[in-house]
Amino acid sequence: MFNSIIAVVVSYLLGSISFSILFARWLRKIDIRDHGSGNAGATNTLRVLGKGPAIAVFLLDIAKGSAAVLIGLWLGDGEKWVPVACGLASIWGHNWPIYFRFKGGKGIATTIGALILWAFMPTLIAGIVAIVAIVITRYVSLGSLIFAILLPLLFYLYDLESAYIWGTLVVALLAIFRHRKNIVKLMNGTENKLGSKKGEPH
Ligand code: G3P
Repeated sequence: MFNSIIAVVVSYLLGSISFSILFARWLRKIDIRDHGSGNAGATNTLRVLGKGPAIAVFLLDIAKGSAAVLIGLWLGDGEKWVPVACGLASIWGHNWPIYFRFKGGKGIATTIGALILWAFMPTLIAGIVAIVAIVITRYVSLGSLIFAILLPLLFYLYDLESAYIWGTLVVALLAIFRHRKNIVKLMNGTENKLGSKKGEPH
């Protein structure tokens, strides 16, 4: 039990490493949360810093989600809830990072990294549908929401362990909560499209 708790705490600390904030600091000496949409994530890194840093942030944010689940599998003693809790803790850390005044991102890349290790196929299918939605509409937020909402449904259809299905429900609720301003903008037609430089800080 002690090891499991350590794994969850380490996962939160790992998730709290916000690569978009770090890259913006290193490359431009700015706080990315004062620019573009104000979000500390790969999409806003693309807006503010460009393609190279955005790809790096995206991959590193995915990697920290995967690393957290691996820590959970390693220290969890076969208990299913531990990799689930570790994945959620890393997403929580990304969204509310302890090192950056608890103001982080929306957790989608970190969710991808964690959930491909929970269950690869349903996560891949949700990801493909999300990419198609983004290519058609050019709204990353809409793709992110579709991805997050499809996950519980697909995990349920794949008949996975209940710990994972409950985990995806939490993931979906977190994503909806973090995208609440995007949802309003999508509904009133003012959401930023991919490639647009606009966007206002929260
Ligand atoms: O994953 C974040 C994305 O869905 C939206 O980001 O910066 O457009 O609010 P942003």
